[in-house]
Amino acid sequence: MRTIQNLPKINQKDFPLLENNFKNENKIIYLDHAATTQKPIQVLAKIDEYYKNFNANVHRGAHQLSAKATEEFENARSLIGKYVNANSTKEIIFTRNATEAINLVARSWGEFTLKENDEILLSIMEHHSNIVPWQMVAAKNKCKLKFVGIDQDGRLDFDDLKLKLTKKTKLVSLLHISNTLGCCNPIKEITKLAKQYGAFVLLDACQSLAHQKMDVLDLGIDFLAGSGHKLCGPTGIGFLWSREEILEKIPPFFGGGEMIQDVYQETSTWAELPHKFEAGTPAIAEAIGLAEAIKYINNIGLDNIKEYEKEITEYLFEQLSQIEGIEIIGPSPKIDPNRASLATFYIKGIHSNDIAEILDSKGVCIRSGHHCCQPLHRHLRINSTARVSMNFTTNQEEINTFIEKLKETISFLNINS
Ligand SMILES: Cc1ncc(COP(=O)(O)O)c(C=O)c1O
Repeated sequence: MRTIQNLPKINQKDFPLLENNFKNENKIIYLDHAATTQKPIQVLAKIDEYYKNFNANVHRGAHQLSAKATEEFENARSLIGKYVNANSTKEIIFTRNATEAINLVARSWGEFTLKENDEILLSIMEHHSNIVPWQMVAAKNKCKLKFVGIDQDGRLDFDDLKLKLTKKTKLVSLLHISNTLGCCNPIKEITKLAKQYGAFVLLDACQSLAHQKMDVLDLGIDFLAGSGHKLCGPTGIGFLWSREEILEKIPPFFGGGEMIQDVYQETSTWAELPHKFEAGTPAIAEAIGLAEAIKYINNIGLDNIKEYEKEITEYLFEQLSQIEGIEIIGPSPKIDPNRASLATFYIKGIHSNDIAEILDSKGVCIRSGHHCCQPLHRHLRINSTARVSMNFTTNQEEINTFIEKLKETISFLNINS
């Protein structure tokens, strides 16, 4: 058995939940990081500090607490901007999550821009968050949705993409890394192609932001959606990045306080970017907490994270492929070296929910079901799958225990089926 090198420099004690026993006598093994990551104590402490020391509303009060809260909140925006290499902080819009960011684009840009018979190109591997908002816009604006398929290895079918991209395509909206197949889509190449047809490109970066460097300018995309809770930050905070000239042109999504300049009885004028898209009191503590999470990730270094996760993913695949009957969906790390540090699998004759439930009773948390990817599962003619997802906190010992418990689970289910 090989030993994993390049361990990232983290203190396991930074993640109290991973250290605790919870309900089980064994240490909990959390392998559901793609659903949400655990939060380091630095993030919890920062949120605590905000509520204890400078809790106030932002952008409103003339008092010192509001000034401090506003400074920290806007610093958070600036850090997120740097994290994705945005041109300006005006380009970062805080949302509740990535889903809301995609809905914002669908409602503000989509409904405003798309015309009858225009086409929106998605892929069959999209998360429901990047399908349903477009179905709603397509129904309203009488547009057509098209889906790019996948190849034999479970990667985006580039030939199919070329075939389906036409002059009618106004938007290509794709995930960067699939939360189910794990493949990493070649966004720069796709954007180049999309631009030849004048199409806009939205990137759902939920599964990539905590695992590899992001450069929106280099990728040439138009919109990017991210969720804080997948980045070691709190829930309730996400963001949309878009280019200033796009955001200037499109109408706001929500109306209310904060997003206006002047309000008259019949009409209103909008605030400057980014506030035009941020109606009401924002998630202040959450934004500040997310900034702390990004600092934490930056301290480890995304290159170190990527290198380590690559190695532990190869190890996970080696171990899983030695178990009889396991079918992994998505490309192996040999085929897609940039793939996510997760593995999604099924075993004929065994329901993935049974696997997950029995593993849970042994202290191992994995996910089962369709992972918000029903069209993909239908396309593959599989009802449900089990997913093990890791991040930089996952160690080799945890994978070994998972594999051992998985083998026990399969033997038990085979005997009892
Ligand atoms: C690829 C992908 N897109 C979108 C989402 C939606 O994220 P959220 O629920 O935080 O908006 C997820 C969450 O699992 C995801 O994995």
